[in-house]
Amino acid sequence: MNIILLGPPGSGKGTQAKLIEERCGIPQISTGDMLRKAVENKTELGIKAKNYMDSGALVPDELVIMITEERLKAEDCRDGFILDGFPRTVTQAEALDEVLNKMNKKIDNALNIEVKEDDIIRRMSGRRICKGCGASYHIIFNPPNEENICDLCGGELYQRDDDKEETVRNRLKVYKDQTEPLINYYREKSVLRSIDGGRKIEEINQLIEEILT
Ligand code: AP5
Repeated sequence: MNIILLGPPGSGKGTQAKLIEERCGIPQISTGDMLRKAVENKTELGIKAKNYMDSGALVPDELVIMITEERLKAEDCRDGFILDGFPRTVTQAEALDEVLNKMNKKIDNALNIEVKEDDIIRRMSGRRICKGCGASYHIIFNPPNEENICDLCGGELYQRDDDKEETVRNRLKVYKDQTEPLINYYREKSVLRSIDGGRKIEEINQLIEEILT
């Protein structure tokens, strides 16, 4: 099963991707996580990506297409994958189609998680991320069992630099201009399913399970 998670920043893509990964045994592929690792390790990719990410802009298409194509070839993607945060432009979506075509694969479901802007700002300001596995928590809506410690891997939790309100507003604008057109792109391919992301995490997960089974 090959899945794309669409939706604005903070809509819950990462949270739901982790739950699908656990249930279906297919890997989450988060370009955001891959890029943050590259920035942390100061790799050539990380150095190129850092300024774009800090301002809430998109990293150039050719860079994210390259790392995603590489990742999709890995053995653990053989039975499926969950793309979280990719594609984000029509150019990326077209490149993904080409890559999958060559591999005799296709997207089965593009799940579009819809959330209101006010909720997004509230979610981002309380978000905490695991340094180890990238799992996403919220200090009120989804707290870890032990403060600042990841339930999944025991890693330390931190607040992302791009979760400041001003940067979040820019990310939302970038989303509207560059990523929202993908909703129509996948609707035209008859794989789009929209989900009310304003509900509780478990309820959204239930809706997704119903779509995937
Ligand atoms: P990326 O890391 O992909 O960020 P994003 O898409 O902006 O999405 P987020 O990770 O912010 O949110 P999410 O939807 O995963 O929500 P989450 O589950 O964490 O990208 C970061 C940057 O990298 C980009 O700005 C860009 O620069 C670059 N980049 C990445 N991919 C790229 C690409 N393809 N092309 C170019 N550049 C790229 O949830 C948010 C919070 O809400 C959490 O605290 C969570 O606990 C809470 N929450 C979740 N669900 C609920 C709920 N139902 N109710 C209440 N709270 C909830």
